[in-house]
Amino acid sequence: MEYAAAPQENLCAEGILSHWGNCPWQVRVLDRIDSTNNEAKRLAAQGAPHGTAILTGCQTGGRGRLGRQFASPKGGLYLSVLLRPKGQLSDLLHLTPMAAVAARCAIEKSCGLQTQIKWTNDLVFERQKIGGILTELASGADSMAEYAIIGIGINCNTDLQDLPPDVRPMAASLGQIAGRPVDVNALAAALLAELFLMNEQLLTRRSQWLEEYASACMTIGKTVQVLRGETRRRAFAYGIDEQGCLLVRYENGEEAAVSSGEVSVRGMYRYVE
Ligand code: BTN
Repeated sequence: MEYAAAPQENLCAEGILSHWGNCPWQVRVLDRIDSTNNEAKRLAAQGAPHGTAILTGCQTGGRGRLGRQFASPKGGLYLSVLLRPKGQLSDLLHLTPMAAVAARCAIEKSCGLQTQIKWTNDLVFERQKIGGILTELASGADSMAEYAIIGIGINCNTDLQDLPPDVRPMAASLGQIAGRPVDVNALAAALLAELFLMNEQLLTRRSQWLEEYASACMTIGKTVQVLRGETRRRAFAYGIDEQGCLLVRYENGEEAAVSSGEVSVRGMYRYVE
C-alpha cells in the first residue's frame, strides 16, 4: 500500500474502499457515535453479520480497558469489527494480542511507522501511547462464542491539547510523529485488511502471531509492577504464553502468568520509581 496520497481527506467509506476495493466486510462510517464498540454490540443484537465494521473520527463515550473512559477527540480513528468466530470462548483469549499485531502492521504499512506494544493492549511509540485495543466477547450456548468485538482507537491527526490533561503527557499521535498529517482512510483500510487476515488465521496460526506479538512487546525483558487491587508487586517480565498472558518472575523467584489487571513498565507513563 502507498503512503498518504490525499492525507487531509476525512474518514469516509469511499475513501477507505479506494484503498481496498475488494473489502469483503460491510463498512459503516459515522460522523460521531458514543462508542463504536457499543454500536457494534447494538448491531450484533439485531443480527448484524460477521465482518460488520463501524468507524468514526470522534467518539463521545469511548471505553477503554478496566472500565475506564477512552478519550476520543476528533482527529483520531476509532473502529470496531464484529466477528462471529466458530469456537469456544476459551479458544479466543489470544484475540487481543493478535489484534495488537494487526494494528501494528497496519500502521507500519500505511504510515511507515514502527510502533511497539505495551502488554496487553497499548500501541506505543517511544514510550508514548498512540492507541489502544478493547476486545469484548459474548458467549452463546455451551460456552461457544456468540460474537467478538475488536475495538481499536488510534491518535492519528489528533490535537493532543484535546486530550484530558492527565492523559496528554503520556500520549502521542501518528501525525505528530510522522511530521505530516496521516491519511486516515489509508490507515482504516490497512487496519481492516490486517484484521481480515487475522480472522482467517485466528485458530490456525496462533503461535506465529503470538511470536510476532512477543517480538514487538516492549514489556518483555523489563522490570514491571503487577497491580492487583491494592497490591503491587515488582517482577521481571520474561515472555507470554499461548493465551497471551504475561509471564513474570517475582522478586522471591515465584513465577506467574498474568492474564488481567494492570502491569506498569518501569520508566514508562508514571512508573518511574
Ligand atoms: C484502552 O486503551 O484501554 C483501550 C482503548 C480502546 C478504544 C477503542 S476506540 C474504538 C472502540 N470503541 C470504544 O469505545 N473503545 C474501543
